[in-house]
Amino acid sequence: MQKEKILVIGASGQIGVELTLALRKIYGNGNVVASDLREENSLLTGTGPYVSLDVMNKEMLHVQVIRQGITQIYLLAAILSATGEKNPALAWNLNMQSLLNVLDIAKEEKLTKVYWPSSIAVFGPTSPKLDCPQKTIIEPSTVYGISKYAGEFWCNYYFNKFGVDVRSLRYPGLISYKSAPGGGTTDYAVEIYLEALECKKYECFLKEDTYLPMMYMPDAIRATIELMEASSEKINIRTSYNVSAMSFSPKEIAASIQEHIPAFSISYAPDYRQQIANSWPQSINDSEAAADWGWKPEYNLSKMTADMLQNLQS
Ligand SMILES: NC(=O)c1ccc[n+]([C@@H]2O[C@H](COP(=O)([O-])OP(=O)(O)OC[C@H]3O[C@@H](n4cnc5c(N)ncnc54)[C@H](O)[C@@H]3O)[C@@H](O)[C@H]2O)c1
Repeated sequence: MQKEKILVIGASGQIGVELTLALRKIYGNGNVVASDLREENSLLTGTGPYVSLDVMNKEMLHVQVIRQGITQIYLLAAILSATGEKNPALAWNLNMQSLLNVLDIAKEEKLTKVYWPSSIAVFGPTSPKLDCPQKTIIEPSTVYGISKYAGEFWCNYYFNKFGVDVRSLRYPGLISYKSAPGGGTTDYAVEIYLEALECKKYECFLKEDTYLPMMYMPDAIRATIELMEASSEKINIRTSYNVSAMSFSPKEIAASIQEHIPAFSISYAPDYRQQIANSWPQSINDSEAAADWGWKPEYNLSKMTADMLQNLQS
């Protein structure tokens, strides 16, 4: 069996840090090369190799892939939904070109696998709000969503046309305590825990009854690794899989925090992100992921809240 050597691009970000650490546990520290445009995240320091890399520089990326003997790439560099609305051209450019660079190099160097995340942001105001299915009306209204939907079809194209084994998940909003979120519409669900512990109050940028699909980071990391380790015949969807774990509103997450911190209070000052949130489904149907490669979430809101607060305090 070929020895795998993995390159994680965007390793200093919210998902990258935890995914890199998880992959290092499985494949060995030396076999997972972390890379990012910004400096190495302190949680990665000393745990394995790190290279400074701009994914937009295709030549340099190609050189690194050859030099390091890379066999798999996890591409996590992107501009997220809220930041993307502030700079649509930059978001489109980075989100598309980074993927095309990686897919081209994967094709040329015959990499064994590529991972690239999509998002529930592919869905738009005309998609079903509840239990949104894998295949439905998809008319994204943010530049981020447009870039993710286009990216899904590039993945499908490279798989069908060139045999690149690229796999993808449509992540919901991700909640974690290790590394900070990077400018998404669901970032409030991370900030709220930090503020609850620090000052016992939080001003939310979404309205109290805004339901969105969410997932705790340990579930997201496990979903990613389970998808990537599934045998190729099980992967029937080569655009991107719906995955889901829980849905809640700011009011509900506040109530779950109040069970641990009774003095905690929340207020609401919706901003431009409300409109983005309104365009997305409230819950997601992930029956294809369950049927094809056995996806099953572990964390609900109350289990996540207990774990978040415990870890943030320790
Ligand atoms: N976090 C979520 O809730 C969420 C939800 C759905 C999908 N996703 C997707 O998951 C992926 C990772 O998201 P994240 O939350 O970890 O994002 P993040 O913003 O926290 O991390 C992205 C990382 O990419 C790096 N980067 C940016 N431009 C780069 C470049 N040119 N070259 C190399 N690195 C560069 C950044 O420095 C950053 O460390 C993205 O594709 C995102 O769209 C995230």
